[in-house]
Amino acid sequence: MQLDAMRTVLDALPIAVAFVDADERVRIANRACAAILGPAPEGRTCSALLRHPEFLGGLEASLSGDKTHVKRLILTAGGNETHLTVTFTPMITTTVKGVLVAFEDLTPIEQAGVMRRDFVANVSHELRTPLTALVGFIETLRGAARDDPAARDRFLGIMEREAGRMIRLVSDLLSLSRVEAEERRRPANEVDIAVLLKTLLESHRETAASGGIDLRLEMAEGPVRLRADGDQLTQVFHNLVENAIKYGGGGKEVMIRVTELQHEPVLKGAAIQVEVIDRGEGIGPLHLPRLTERFYRVDTHRSREQGGTGLGLAIVKHIVNRHRGRLKIESEPGKGSKFIIILPKT
Ligand SMILES: Nc1ncnc2c1ncn2[C@@H]1O[C@H](COP(=O)(O)OP(=O)(O)OP(=O)(O)O)[C@@H](O)[C@H]1O
Ligand SMILES: [Mg+2]
Repeated sequence: MQLDAMRTVLDALPIAVAFVDADERVRIANRACAAILGPAPEGRTCSALLRHPEFLGGLEASLSGDKTHVKRLILTAGGNETHLTVTFTPMITTTVKGVLVAFEDLTPIEQAGVMRRDFVANVSHELRTPLTALVGFIETLRGAARDDPAARDRFLGIMEREAGRMIRLVSDLLSLSRVEAEERRRPANEVDIAVLLKTLLESHRETAASGGIDLRLEMAEGPVRLRADGDQLTQVFHNLVENAIKYGGGGKEVMIRVTELQHEPVLKGAAIQVEVIDRGEGIGPLHLPRLTERFYRVDTHRSREQGGTGLGLAIVKHIVNRHRGRLKIESEPGKGSKFIIILPKT
């Protein structure tokens, strides 16, 4: 094959492939190579482009031995790791002898693996804490507290709470995986968000009142319809209002404000905006971008004390995604937080 014909073929490939001659000089680098070898690598020597012993070793071995070699490398640049499998295949074109070097980027697979391991570790940890407590109390009930009815009652109360926490964790995980599974399927039902929010607020009024918080709904009269899954939207606003009551406690007021937007620039159309606003302690800017991660909590200890699993906002994010909507979080420590949900009308 002529070098020119080879370049045309390599450019059409979605993965990074380069042809390197016997002097270890890059003769062809297809477009996808730019991400690994940098801009304009053609004509330069490999050792100047990618100073990695495994890479240079594989190249030399293939050039001298006429055999295909495969190497795994990890490149680090700017704090990011790129995991590559590099295949070196000896090749002779009509004019040049060299090696075809193919770079396969395994970074997304590696990242998925890390996420899976983290997730399993998190779930195990969250379950182990209440389980350890339960086992401890069972031992105490069998031993020291055997004939002490007051202690027994107290311990049973704690055991009930810990068991309740495990049930909540498991059902949150189930609803998260259910929402994720159907995230690609947009809901088709029509829901009146005015009715939905009024019902929801009634169910929270008592808890709010016991914390001295006034729940307010600000919206125009009449129905506000949009395409949605009613149960899932209820869950979204339940999680947000619950958080506002739990963490916005100092503020005495939690407000839900509904606005109809004629033209939402990102969604490119009419939308409904629902803001859940509290005047509580707020959230520091470092935490804001991570709030919707599973199990992420600003104050892990306190959230656990209050029976939280750290999955509430992760569920909110996935449901909003399923509705093709947006979630924005604005907050200022000491002043309060605003969780903004924007949903397309049609
Ligand atoms: N309105 C708010 N004001 C201040 N911090 C908040 C607010 N809402 C959420 N947070 C912070 O974000 C974290 C994550 O919230 P999320 O709802 O995902 O979990 P959680 O409330 O701890 O547990 P769960 O919702 O499962 O009961 C919380 O632990 C809290 O630190
Ligand atoms: Mg929550």
